[in-house]
Amino acid sequence: MPRHVLTLVIVLFTFLSLALSSTSKTFSPVLRDHQGHWAEFNLLMVHEPIRADLARLEKAIKPEFFDGKDEWKVEALFEWFKQFSHGIHVHHQSEDEFLFPALEQRHPLSSTLKADHRELVLLLKEIEALEVPMKEGSGNGKFEDGLKTIDYLRTKVHELQEHLNKHLNDEEKEVLGYLKSSWTEKEWDEVIERLQSHSSIFDAAHLVGGFLSQMKVWGDEKDLNKFFSKLPSPFVVLVQFVWEPLYTRDYVGLIESIPANKPHRSLPSFFHVLGAVAISIVLLIRRRFGRLALAWAVFLGLYFTDNL
Ligand SMILES: [Fe+2]
Ligand SMILES: [Fe+2]
Repeated sequence: MPRHVLTLVIVLFTFLSLALSSTSKTFSPVLRDHQGHWAEFNLLMVHEPIRADLARLEKAIKPEFFDGKDEWKVEALFEWFKQFSHGIHVHHQSEDEFLFPALEQRHPLSSTLKADHRELVLLLKEIEALEVPMKEGSGNGKFEDGLKTIDYLRTKVHELQEHLNKHLNDEEKEVLGYLKSSWTEKEWDEVIERLQSHSSIFDAAHLVGGFLSQMKVWGDEKDLNKFFSKLPSPFVVLVQFVWEPLYTRDYVGLIESIPANKPHRSLPSFFHVLGAVAISIVLLIRRRFGRLALAWAVFLGLYFTDNL
């Protein structure tokens, strides 16, 4: 091969590999090139799990995976959607009550950001309300109605995806500039601490589990270290070994069970296991309940085997 052709091939190959390696791991069109600024980290941490959820939802209701005939799929979809919708409410509430008022002390915020929150609530409710007609349409002879409902469901989910993604992008475009230009990380962390003190432990478990789960996709080692450094020490273990695994297994696993075509069976929660272990210990200590303890151990064994 002539030398100049070889050089051209090498240059093209290098260019192609560089182009492929710079492919972003984020869903965000605003923060494709994450430069490691604390404000970018904060926005990606909370928004990327939502974008990932929207992508999973869109996939789950594709005609090849979801036709409304399988009752377990309809059940799984709406069970998951209720949790997703609650997570969005919590996110919007945090912004309306803490983050936006804090930002507005220094910058006027565009009214569309708050209007979006109100419009998105209505859209989420409209989709949630489709659970009853969808269930009536699946498997009881009224499938014609069910088909119309599926079309409507797909239209509404598409609308939600467009609107929510646009809102997240607009928010990032507007808020990022303000945070970078006139906030310090310490000041912003104080706002977040006020917000956290008003959150329930169950909402925190779901949200923080999602932050870590998706950060493993978009973030690098530095992001993960930063995430753990901001958590109080007992929470580092809790988030890593309980909240994030539960989020990935039970929440992400539930919506992904639809395209995987395999019903999701959730394992007992950490507290159920803890309770079961405590009861077993008590039963084992009290010898006269020996047979009962054995039956209990067999039951637990079967339960876990069945669910794995
Ligand atoms: Fe928002
Ligand atoms: Fe947001």
